[in-house]
Amino acid sequence: MCGSKRVWVSELIFILLVVKGWWSEGCLEQERYALLQLRHFFNDDQCLQNCWVDDENYSDCCQWERVECNDTTGRVIKLDLRDTRNWESAEWYMNASLFTPFQQLESLYLIGNNIAGCVENEGLDTLSRLNNLKFLYLDYNHFNNSIFSSLGGLSSLRNLSLIGNRLIGSIDIKGLDSLGNLEELDMSDNAINNLVIPKDYRGLRKLNTLYLGGTEIAMIDGSKVLQSIGSLPSLKTLYLSSTNFKGTVVNQELHNFTNLEELILDDSDLHISQLLQSIASFTSLKYLSMGFCTLTGALHGQGKLRVSEAFMILIR
Ligand SMILES: *[C@@H]1O[C@H](CO)[C@@H](O)[C@H](O)[C@H]1NC(C)=O
Ligand SMILES: *[C@@H]1O[C@H](CO)[C@@H](O)[C@H](O)[C@H]1NC(C)=O
Ligand SMILES: *[C@@H]1O[C@H](CO)[C@@H](O)[C@H](O)[C@H]1NC(C)=O
Ligand SMILES: *[C@@H]1O[C@H](CO)[C@@H](O)[C@H](O)[C@H]1NC(C)=O
Ligand SMILES: *[C@@H]1O[C@H](CO)[C@@H](O)[C@H](O)[C@H]1NC(C)=O
Ligand SMILES: *[C@@H]1O[C@H](CO)[C@@H](O)[C@H](O)[C@H]1NC(C)=O
Repeated sequence: MCGSKRVWVSELIFILLVVKGWWSEGCLEQERYALLQLRHFFNDDQCLQNCWVDDENYSDCCQWERVECNDTTGRVIKLDLRDTRNWESAEWYMNASLFTPFQQLESLYLIGNNIAGCVENEGLDTLSRLNNLKFLYLDYNHFNNSIFSSLGGLSSLRNLSLIGNRLIGSIDIKGLDSLGNLEELDMSDNAINNLVIPKDYRGLRKLNTLYLGGTEIAMIDGSKVLQSIGSLPSLKTLYLSSTNFKGTVVNQELHNFTNLEELILDDSDLHISQLLQSIASFTSLKYLSMGFCTLTGALHGQGKLRVSEAFMILIR
């Protein structure tokens, strides 16, 4: 009895040692290999070229710069590849499959890398295999409207950022329908002028923050756009800074904006009486920011402000 117990214990110790030895290896070999592949494409960063090396003494890729692993599993959970591509070289098409080995990846930063899109059959839709991917930052690249057709399967995404890309004209929100867990969407600084959201829209149910600053939204038909944004069921914070709402005709239909708590209109051109009129329909508004706005028009008292008690206006 006693003897077999001792054997059992030593086997256990042996297993523990093996497991420990395996963990202390650091990152998974296939992830290390995948990082070394990425280095060929994200090729203009001193650190990346010097630290991400195929060297037995630096084989723990969890220790590499721009890589973050889960301490327990040793799997890569965050990759920060912002500004790692030479801007003087031509725009390029990325192979998104290069990221699929990182099965536990949660955050991917590809900001400022001159990416024009993806190579055929290796698009962003391949990232749908990464069930934990929550944060995707694609700012300051050259993605155009066709990106929406490839994002459909990324149902685990919480935050998606597309600041300063080549999104243009009218955006049909239906393209994002399946992003059922999306909480924050940033499309600032694009040439977007319209957002099409069906009246009884049921998608993007968790979206609470929408950034549309520096777009051309107000120029075409701002009130119509505002009205359709009102159909987003959970929206609490809306950024419309650096837009021109001066010419926006606010019609009587602008009613059911019942969730919005924060409206940020900084750096905008606004017509004050029209603004007050439309704000009256934002019945849940608690915070309105109008820093550095150019206000035109007079106050005629027809504003009929019906806003909650916690409401505050910030004017700088
Ligand atoms: C790794 O480190 C050992 C001991 O410092 C050294 O002898 C060896 O040359 C190093 N290997 C490489 C590939 O640099
Ligand atoms: C690391 O992974 C384990 C197992 O999947 C998980 O329980 C834990 O929360 C993770 N830790 C972090 C910091 O993400
Ligand atoms: C994209 O990357 C995957 C994974 O490394 C590879 O299998 C595939 O051949 C690549 N495709 C292209 C078009 O380069
Ligand atoms: C949009 O990007 C795709 C690649 O993602 C490209 O094939 C297409 O030509 C681009 N369309 C325009 C109008 O630039
Ligand atoms: C993601 O979005 C949420 C909800 O808007 C926000 O609170 C959070 O700070 C964002 N996380 C990151 C990493 O940007
Ligand atoms: C606002 O809600 C009321 C009652 O639910 C509805 O009758 C009306 O059509 C809605 N107005 C708009 C502009 O959606």
